[in-house]
Amino acid sequence: MADPAAPSTAPSSPNAIDVALADVDARYRDDFAKALDEQALREANARFLGRNGALTAALKEMGKIPATERKAAGQRVNAMKGAVEAAFEARLAGLHRAAREAELQAPPFDLTLPGRAAPRGHLHPVTQVREDILDVFRDLGFVVAEGPQVDLEENNFTKLGFPPDHPAVDMQDTFWVKPPKGAPDARVLLRTHTSNMQVREMSARKPPMAIVSAGTVYRVDDDPTHTPMFHQMEAFYVDEHVTMAHLKGVIAAFVAKLFGERPVRFRPSYFPFVEPGVEVDMRCTFCEGAGCRLCKGTGWMEILGAGMIHPVVFEHCGIDPEKYSGFALGTGLDRPAMQRYGIPDLRLMFEGDVRFLEQF
Ligand code: PHE
Repeated sequence: MADPAAPSTAPSSPNAIDVALADVDARYRDDFAKALDEQALREANARFLGRNGALTAALKEMGKIPATERKAAGQRVNAMKGAVEAAFEARLAGLHRAAREAELQAPPFDLTLPGRAAPRGHLHPVTQVREDILDVFRDLGFVVAEGPQVDLEENNFTKLGFPPDHPAVDMQDTFWVKPPKGAPDARVLLRTHTSNMQVREMSARKPPMAIVSAGTVYRVDDDPTHTPMFHQMEAFYVDEHVTMAHLKGVIAAFVAKLFGERPVRFRPSYFPFVEPGVEVDMRCTFCEGAGCRLCKGTGWMEILGAGMIHPVVFEHCGIDPEKYSGFALGTGLDRPAMQRYGIPDLRLMFEGDVRFLEQF
């Protein structure tokens, strides 16, 4: 390092600062002229004045030159800085002017043109039906419950009174899932119906309770009227002195709200978790009972399965069957959606083809 006290040896040969200044001087006008938009211009400017710019680097050299020359060198750097700044501002103003000019030359913007509407989506047909059905039960005082699609065998089958050899439990009908790592013996499945919600809610609450739940269920099944994934809803009511009259009243109200007031009939049927069990029909919505293709000439349409909750189910869920009784009903959501919108093939609903979905 030079000794600052030592007399300087004559006007130095071009030092690092002057080399840098000459370099900047040779480049900045051209660089600015070549910048065709503000972004490019700012980038060019940063190459000279930025934190890592050439002039900034030159200033850092200042300490290395002899003290006697420092003031003059500083003035040369500042003069160059001023020149670059002025050229930058001038070019920036020029670019702005050109942009404004181009805007004015462009075809006029017609404010009176109508806007372009953003395409608007809608709920899936099955979701629409689900919300309508949940609304009906909410109005009747039922509480909406959510449940998992992956559940234990005991919630889906065992506690509902399905014997282990019941055909529904078979691999042919049910998707079985690998048990979780921590519980290698757990019997896990994709729920085959929403009746798992009976077990879950009855085990978790004390009567009285009126619960409705809807969601996705799975069975090994695939043809024009069956898909491996489909949708159901379930409603049940547990209290003292609940009878089939309550069941019939709720079903009549449900049918009236969704399809208009019409006769309803019960046919005996079997589900392991209800006794007695029934299948419920309503007067055909197309022919009003005269007999048509849709009701296969019977004048009736099957709408749901139902019954009085079996005492064994209550016992499995810790509810005293001597004190309490209740009804349960359940039905698919996909068929009503198909009927409402005239959809011929169930599989169409789950392929996600927008050309199909747009029609509803
Ligand atoms: N879970 C039955 C099914 O999937 C329907 C049902 C629900 C029947 C509640 C009776 C009571 O077919």
